[in-house]
Amino acid sequence: MNRVDGKVALVTGGARGIGGETAKLLAKAGAKVVITDLLERDGKAMADVINEAGGVACFFRHDVTSETEWAQVVAETVKQYGGLDILVNNAGVWARGVIEETTIEDFDKLCAVNLKGVFLGTKHAIGAMKTRPPDADSGSIVNLSSTAGLVGSATSAVYSMTKGGVRLFTKSTAIEVRGRGYNIRCNSVHPGATESPMQDDILATSNMSPNEIKEFMENRNLLGRFGKPLDIANAILFLASNDSAFMTGSEVVVDGGYTAR
Ligand SMILES: NC(=O)c1ccc[n+]([C@@H]2O[C@H](COP(=O)([O-])OP(=O)(O)OC[C@H]3O[C@@H](n4cnc5c(N)ncnc54)[C@H](O)[C@@H]3O)[C@@H](O)[C@H]2O)c1
Repeated sequence: MNRVDGKVALVTGGARGIGGETAKLLAKAGAKVVITDLLERDGKAMADVINEAGGVACFFRHDVTSETEWAQVVAETVKQYGGLDILVNNAGVWARGVIEETTIEDFDKLCAVNLKGVFLGTKHAIGAMKTRPPDADSGSIVNLSSTAGLVGSATSAVYSMTKGGVRLFTKSTAIEVRGRGYNIRCNSVHPGATESPMQDDILATSNMSPNEIKEFMENRNLLGRFGKPLDIANAILFLASNDSAFMTGSEVVVDGGYTAR
């Protein structure tokens, strides 16, 4: 049996990168997947790829910083697929910047997407998940933090600040929903440097030559390579599914051993 057969999953920022791979993997494992993103063309294309492969997916244009849009997306998901079982708060932004040169606009953008987006998603998903019977599979909220939410970042202190916030918001959510008697679990995933358009931007703004990038990556973590989006999606699927039924408030680190030393 597939691991999330018949479940309904919503993946934010699912048009590409880690979110896109997660949407594909969840669909392959049996879920009906709602992909949301600002990128309409890429988001629709991702849903098409899933549907053409025999899965079930649709796309909504959605800005995770808008509470009105969150209410609409969750209501539409429930209307179309009959409920919401899994939320992957994946949408995120990164920006290089030393503290002294970071503007309030840069700060606000990072906080709006990485923190407000996760808060709003969690708030509206709880509303849709909280009536699950205690003996049913738990609703599962999976938040994308980062290794930058565990250890300091040399390239973006504010990004690190937001991802550290996601880590503790996850744990607080796990505690709060159980305290209110809801059958919902909430866990965070902490990827290390992973191939994606975001990582392309990180490298493009690093001033490193291709050889320097290769050397950097070989020495950055114990496994000597970048993560693949599928490496991260596998961990997300695990947390989304009942295989992780005894996990809540946990953090799963997928970083090739970067934080081991
Ligand atoms: N790639 C990495 O090395 C890495 C490492 C650690 C953590 N992460 C985290 O993983 C998540 C996915 O990262 P990725 O590398 O796939 O990034 P990405 O930039 O490739 O994809 C992120 C997606 O989020 C969407 N998005 C951005 N702002 C949005 C908004 N306001 N509303 C809706 N969608 C929005 C983008 O359009 C994009 O499709 C992010 O939260 C990121 O911080 C990535």
